Amino acid sequence: MNEAVMNKTVMNQSVIVAITGASGAAYALRLIQRLAEAGIEQHILLSDAARVVLRQEVDLMLPDRTPVADALPAILAKHLNIGTEGMHCYALDDWFSPAASGSAGIKKMVVLPCSMGTLARIACGASDNLIERAADVILKERRQLIIAPRETPLSSIHLENMLKLSRMGAHIIPAMPGFYHRPTTVDDLIDFLVNRILDHLDIANPEAQRWGE
Ligand SMILES: Cc1cc2nc3c(=O)[nH]c(=O)nc-3n(C[C@H](O)[C@H](O)[C@H](O)COP(=O)(O)O)c2cc1C
Repeated sequence: MNEAVMNKTVMNQSVIVAITGASGAAYALRLIQRLAEAGIEQHILLSDAARVVLRQEVDLMLPDRTPVADALPAILAKHLNIGTEGMHCYALDDWFSPAASGSAGIKKMVVLPCSMGTLARIACGASDNLIERAADVILKERRQLIIAPRETPLSSIHLENMLKLSRMGAHIIPAMPGFYHRPTTVDDLIDFLVNRILDHLDIANPEAQRWGE
C-alpha cells in the first residue's frame, strides 16, 4: 500500500474521545496527542465538569460551551503541540454530530477519565447529553466502548454500574496505573494507562513497554 493510501486508511479510523469531570484530565490530553500523532480522526466531547478539572489540574482554560466548539481543536492543538488535522469538537447538545448516530459509522469510543456520574448515566441509558448519547449509540450498535473510571474508594453503586457496562461489552480500563515498569515520572504513569487504551483500540503502539521485554 502506498503512503497516501495508507494515510487515508488511518484517517478513516475514527475514535470518539469523551472527557468527563473525573480527576485525571492529563490522561485525556495524552490520548488526544497520541491519536493525533498516529493520524487517527478524533471526535472530542467535553463535559462541563471536564472543563473545570482541566483548569484545576493542568491550567488549561477553555472557553464556555456551544458557540466555541469550533475553536476547541486549535486551543487543544496549541496546548499539545500537535496539528488540528482530523480533530473535531462538538457541543454537548450537538445532536447532528456524527457521534450522535449509529449511521455515521464511528466504531470506537473512549471515555477518559470517566466520572461516576457519567458512568451511571451511561449504565442507565440516559442519553441526556452528547457523551451519554454517543456511548448509548456505541453500545446499541455493539461497537467498542472503553471506559476509564476514576474514583476511590468505590461504592457498590459504582461497582454495579461498571459490572453492568462490562456485561454489555464495554471495556472497563480503570485509571489505575501499575508500577512494575518502574515509573520515574508522572508522564510514565500517564503513558501506562494511555498505552493500555491504545492497545485496546488496536492502534499501533511501538512505544509501549511490554511485560517480559
Ligand atoms: C477537581 C475535581 C476532581 C474531581 N474528581 C472526580 C473523580 O475522580 N471522580 C468522579 O467521579 N468525580 C470527580 N469530580 C466530580 C465530578 O466532576 C462531578 O460529579 C460532575 O458532576 C461530573 O460531571 P460529568 O460526569 O458530566 O463530567 C471531580 C470534580 C472536580 C472539580
